[in-house]
This record gives sequence, structure tokens and C-alpha cells, in this order.
Amino acid sequence: MPDLTPPLANVVRPAGRLVLGIETSCDETAAAVVARGADGRGTVLSSVVRSQWEQHRPYGGVVPEIAARAHVECLDEIIATALTDAGVGFRDLSAVAATAGPGLIGGLLVGLTAAKAIALVRGLPLIAVNHLEAHALTTGLTENLQPPYVLLLVSGGHTQLLLIEDVGRYVRLGTTIDDALGEAFDKTAKLLGLPQPGGPSVEQAARNGNPARFPLPRPMLGRPEPHFSFAGLKTAVRLAAQAAAPLDDQAIADLCASFEQAVVDAVVDRTRTALRLARARTNGADVLVVAGGVAANQRLRAGLTNLATREGVRLSIPPIALCTDNAAMVAWAGAEHLVRNETSSLDFAARARWPLDANATPIIGSGRLGTKA
Ligand code: KG4
Ligand code: ZN
Repeated sequence: MPDLTPPLANVVRPAGRLVLGIETSCDETAAAVVARGADGRGTVLSSVVRSQWEQHRPYGGVVPEIAARAHVECLDEIIATALTDAGVGFRDLSAVAATAGPGLIGGLLVGLTAAKAIALVRGLPLIAVNHLEAHALTTGLTENLQPPYVLLLVSGGHTQLLLIEDVGRYVRLGTTIDDALGEAFDKTAKLLGLPQPGGPSVEQAARNGNPARFPLPRPMLGRPEPHFSFAGLKTAVRLAAQAAAPLDDQAIADLCASFEQAVVDAVVDRTRTALRLARARTNGADVLVVAGGVAANQRLRAGLTNLATREGVRLSIPPIALCTDNAAMVAWAGAEHLVRNETSSLDFAARARWPLDANATPIIGSGRLGTKA
């Protein structure tokens, strides 16, 4: 890879530490350069994300081998673009950070190995980043928000409620026992013949639908621990669709709206429980942060906005491009560890499973990324 450092005379170097981030844990290949000022504030200098969705589309889901190969084929170019867009070269960097888990192991190996090679050749510190931690710390980058806060992470691969006590101190309050929420949207779309990714198509169809037409279950409602379950809801949608067949456009819209409303009711209930548990543990958990692709859903946002008002907490949702998988969040998590002198050795191993809270009881489940972290 060429040294992309522009001629020195033309460069206005951003103050602080520059970290290159690399993300390859699922079906997005991403690289980004983020600056962390001495005041702890972050700036995204570049963020390049390339989705592999078209390569997986014929198979109806992410194929791990195709994902790993696609990362190999474009990662060099994506890194080069991220450096060029930021107007910096390798020699300007303070560190290189890469997602080392949880995720699909082939993809993780590609990104982490690239980061190790850059670190070795350029004499830079390496920071192996936990993907969930990267999501969890994003609001530090976007609005300088400091812990403690409660994080609701809802994506295609993960559904978790975490208490972020501090950088490096995470308590898992709840997780899914089966499907991730984004996965439930995707499977519902598939069942109703709507295009993938399913979240946006279910949301679009639901706009013209009646959320009260189909009585669907609200899984785990009222349980004392804020865990999630979406497999039963998916089955209920299938049974309702079979009973109402043949489905016209209105029936599909009503099913989508009913599904979305059931999801929102369940997620709001589980999040309320998590907020109350968090408050019992800390004095300051009065902020709710939402991340992951499903955070784009308007009905969910409205439900969480109401919840936040009722519970007297502030709701913070990063811009959607930083809610979905990206490498700026990885670079930022890397920067947070770098300033704490927490770097990784070059033999750090990628890991498919990497729970943020090592003390959390394992909950058996399976999903798009395999067993839930
Ligand atoms: O965080 P993300 O971009 O990627 C990973 O899961 O890694 O999340 C993608 C998920 C998909 O399941 C997609 O269907 C869902 O987020 N999603 C949505 C919406 N936009 C994306 N779900 C519901 N409503 C949406 N508007
Ligand atoms: Zn993610």
C-alpha cells in the first residue's frame, strides 16, 4: 500500500491523536480516521463504509465465507480512501485500531491482520477493539457524552441493554435469548415477500397499516430481568399471515404495523426495566443511548422518546451513519484506550464471542452472527 502522506507543506494537521479504525466483523468493510483532542473531544476526519449486501442478497443472508473474501478484496482500497479523505498518511497516525470481536471469525481475521501489519511496519500501537464497546462509546465521539448511561443496542446481530459505568466498566442488564431485533425485522420481511434488508421495508409497509388489526404477543413483557425474545413473535406473524392468506397489500401493511407495534411495546418495557435497574446501581444513569441499525426505526424512536420523557431521562441517538456499523466508532474506542495506555500485543487473537461483561450469565441463543455475545 502506498504511503498516502500528502506533501508536508499542504497539510494542516489536526491537533491531538489520530487513530485509524478498521471494521470487518460482519458484512460492512469500513475504515476511518478519527482525531481525539487533548480536551477529550473527538472529530471524524473520514469514514468509509462499503456494504457487501449485494453479494449476499442471492442467499437471503450473510454468508461468512463470502463476507471474509469480500473484506480481503477491498480492505486495502478502503483504508487508502479513508487516509486520503482525512488528508493524512500512515506517518501521522498515533495508533491503529481494529474490531477483534465479536463477529464472523473470517472477517475479523482480515481486519485485525491488516491492522497488525500496519502496526508492525509503521511502529504504531495496536488496539484490538470490542465491536459492542465501539457502539457503546460512540456518543463520546458525537456529543462528548461521558458515562454513566444506559445503552440499548439493537442491530442485525445484537440486541442488548448495557449499563456503561465507565470506559472499560460494562454491566450487561439484558440480552436476547434468541433472535436479534434487526434479524426479526429481516425474517418478517422475508416471510411477507418484502425486500431485504427487512427493517426499512417493514417500516415502509407499516406506514399505511393498522397496528391494532393483528393481536401479536409482546414477548417477555413485565419480566424482572430486561431480556428479549423475538422468535415467538416471528412465529405469531407467520401464523397470522397464514390465517389471513391470500394477503393483499392492506393485510401486509397491517401485519407490518402490528409487528412493529409489538416490537416497540416489548422494547420500551424492557428498556424501562433496564433504566430502573441502572438507577438502583448508580446515581447518574439518567441518559439513554440507542445504537444499531434498528435505531433508524421511527416508531421505535417515538416509543423511546415517550419513555425517556416519562422516566425523566435524556435520550441520545447518534446520527444513523454512526449507529450502523462503521469504523469511526472503532477508531474512537481505540483512541479512548490509547489515552489510557491500554494497547494490545501483536498476538492478540480475534474472537467470535467476546462478551463486554465477563460476569454476565451466558444466555443460550443463536442468530445472524451465531451464538449471542
Ligand atoms: O447495525 P446494522 O446496520 O448492522 C448490523 O447488524 O451489523 O443493523 C442492520 C439491521 C438490519 O437487520 C436491518 O433490517 C435493521 O438494522 N434496520 C431497521 C431499519 N433500518 C435498518 N430495522 C427497523 N427499522 C428500520 N428503519
Ligand atoms: Zn454493530
